[in-house]
Amino acid sequence: MNPLHQGAPYRAAALLLRGDSESFWLPEAKSTVAGQVDTLFYWILGISVFFFLLIVGLVVFFLVKYRRRGEEIAVQPSAHHSTALELAWSGIPLVIVLAIFVGGFKGFLNLRTAPDDAYEVQVTAQRWNWSFTYPNGHVDPELHVPAGVPIRLVMSSLDVIHSFYVPDYRVKQDLVPGRYTTAWFEAKEPGESRIYCAEYCGTSHSEMLSRVVVHAPAEFERWLQEAADWMVGLSPADAGAELYRRKGCVQCHSVDGSAGIGPTLKSSFGSPRKFTDGSDGRVDENYIRQSLLQPAAAVVVGFDPVMPTFQGRLDDEEIAALIAYIKSLN
Ligand code: CUA
Repeated sequence: MNPLHQGAPYRAAALLLRGDSESFWLPEAKSTVAGQVDTLFYWILGISVFFFLLIVGLVVFFLVKYRRRGEEIAVQPSAHHSTALELAWSGIPLVIVLAIFVGGFKGFLNLRTAPDDAYEVQVTAQRWNWSFTYPNGHVDPELHVPAGVPIRLVMSSLDVIHSFYVPDYRVKQDLVPGRYTTAWFEAKEPGESRIYCAEYCGTSHSEMLSRVVVHAPAEFERWLQEAADWMVGLSPADAGAELYRRKGCVQCHSVDGSAGIGPTLKSSFGSPRKFTDGSDGRVDENYIRQSLLQPAAAVVVGFDPVMPTFQGRLDDEEIAALIAYIKSLN
């Protein structure tokens, strides 16, 4: 029977017993620090559950044991001092919170301090996409890393505060405009994990997603080499279609005619435009180039001036490819 049709206790039990990504428990620990985080979390959870049951159990027990039974009871003098009891209720919690502090502090230091030999990747967040810059200059919308190698992320935002969050790794760190923040992790095995933005950053915050792809070390080198020259052998329009996806244009500009945060690109080339400053124009090569590099210079009527600049993030060859792609949508 479908568990959704069962009662709440059954559903709760089913969630507790599940081992997959939809279970009640933390997702599979895929980084070297995740185990440490989980141990502390479950330790605190266990203590909380133990004391919750103990206190609620005692409340219920005393409620029943000392309930009013009808007959008059003479008021008895209550105990006002017990050294042993007071030492116990001070000493035991002290030991417990100190253990939590020590575990938490060790884990915090470990999470904050990347190993010296870590491989460095630059992370740039902007509404509403991620880009990852590798030591050879390649920029990718996904984070590719080798397994078993510590990775240090040096992160910044081009606009508002975002937060880089990989639940599988138990890693979360804010990206702040105008300064660098860092995070590090070491993926245990090849595989994939999702990247979320965990700080509300505007309309498409919930779609600000990417993934980490973990390769075997030798395979990672090959991937990086091939990824760096991905445009070789592609027609400009095909390369433009790929750039449209990689650079995050897809978040705001549809290619099917529907309006998004920005105007659709379908049949846009050559079409007339009215701008918020009262002027008008036509979509041509120079207009597209200007829109990419100085998006605030001419904003189409009916849309907000929210497009980020791609100055320094697109070279001339890439801009030409995007223009070819937009032309191909007519
Ligand atoms: Cu970026 Cu939320």
